[in-house]
Amino acid sequence: MSLPCVDGSVEKGEELRIAIVGCGDVGLVTGACLAVVGHHVTCVDNDGERICALAEGRACTHEPHLGEIVAAAQRTGQLEFTTDHTEIIRRVEAVFICAEVSLLENGESDLSAIDSVARVIGGARNGPSLVITKSTLPVGTCQKLQHALEIYGRATGAKCAVACNPEFLREGNAVCDFLHPDRIVVGVDETSVAEKMRQIYLPILGGKLQCPVHRGSCPAGAPPQFVVTSTISAELVKPASNSFLALKISYANQLAELCERLGADVEEVTRAMGLDPRIGSRFLHAGIGYGGYFFPKRIEAFYLLAERAGVHFNLLKEVERINRERVDRFMEKAKQALWVLKRKQVGVLGLSFKPHTEDTHSSPAIEILGRLLAEGSIVRAYDPQAMDAARAKFPTVTYCHDAYGVASGAEAILVLTEWPEFLLLDWGRVRELMARPLVCDGRNLLNPNKMMELGFEYHSIGRPR
Ligand code: UDX
Repeated sequence: MSLPCVDGSVEKGEELRIAIVGCGDVGLVTGACLAVVGHHVTCVDNDGERICALAEGRACTHEPHLGEIVAAAQRTGQLEFTTDHTEIIRRVEAVFICAEVSLLENGESDLSAIDSVARVIGGARNGPSLVITKSTLPVGTCQKLQHALEIYGRATGAKCAVACNPEFLREGNAVCDFLHPDRIVVGVDETSVAEKMRQIYLPILGGKLQCPVHRGSCPAGAPPQFVVTSTISAELVKPASNSFLALKISYANQLAELCERLGADVEEVTRAMGLDPRIGSRFLHAGIGYGGYFFPKRIEAFYLLAERAGVHFNLLKEVERINRERVDRFMEKAKQALWVLKRKQVGVLGLSFKPHTEDTHSSPAIEILGRLLAEGSIVRAYDPQAMDAARAKFPTVTYCHDAYGVASGAEAILVLTEWPEFLLLDWGRVRELMARPLVCDGRNLLNPNKMMELGFEYHSIGRPR
């Protein structure tokens, strides 16, 4: 049976036996994608229920298209699931560590799962020759892991090298990001290890895979760069990249505030700025700030890492401060427009931290929802995917079937997540349904001129009224 992403033009390379430790979304995406490009992959996890569901073809993930490729790789026999770490780790050539690492009470990461993997590898004379860290782990983990492997392998003579291979997967786009990355970063302390990593990624490095997500017309550009660094540099790439992206967002947000004071339009300014290839246009959109599971946590962790190394990375503190203030500024805006929030019916469009996900972790929309309730507003809300998560936090809110339900009788609508479907609403109908045609757009999703032509009082971020 042929693999779904690979046709005759793809250089396949040698098929390797690979174990993936940890079946969260990163592990599952890594395992399924490496399987569909031709390796024999076994995913292993302690969570028996999850493994059972995965083995039975119930993919337990909301990541788009992941279920499809898991099923396709299972059909071809390239992908298997087990709870038996010891047995499987001893039988493969390479192990990817994708386990989610929890924090201990003292703020340090719990690396016991990684230590256990090292112990199993060290105990097997003919076990894997390469262990690759993909989870986001404290900087310096690879060196410690290499040391542990040497100690545990003394009795058996097991030899295993370590590589760091950070992932840059975005929620909601992870499958495409894995199969069509712009770079594959590989941190190694020996050149031969880099060669092995190149073999693993060979089908992806050609840039010719069919994309199951975009049906062969993936917008990916050039084939990815294969970047070889030391392990310690590779460990820094991910937190450094995420922090820089957050910095870009905070820059745009602070600029938006300045634009408001001076009467300029932040969208015009950032569009022109972004045309300079040294700057780039992505992650320069002003709004109510970044959220999600990763950005806020990682920036804080990166700051602490620098602090422990004796470097005061105060720039990152500013990035966080600017981001935190977005919700305050937006609430001020809403209050200025509505005067009093108490007992006013306010409609909320969007609850997730970004579109195309049900995730509400550190979502600015959720923070705003909480503030509205604290002010005594009567809130009706709608989100295409995130209403269950919001309902669990704020059960008193009325959750509507659609945006028109939110509009009905509202004295204001707040747009808090840039779902494309909000752009396509019949805003004329929305206006008819509202008690007062007031829109505060926290994501600069809508066109100010069109909104005003439709008779709305329209406020957005960093754009003149
Ligand atoms: C992020 C990183 O992008 C990814 O590389 C890493 O592996 C995990 O963390 P993700 O959390 O999925 O991915 O979200 P992302 O798409 O990066 O967006 C983060 C937040 O920034 C969202 O809240 C989004 O709304 C906000 N954002 C993004 C802006 O406010 N403005 C922008 O211009 C871009």
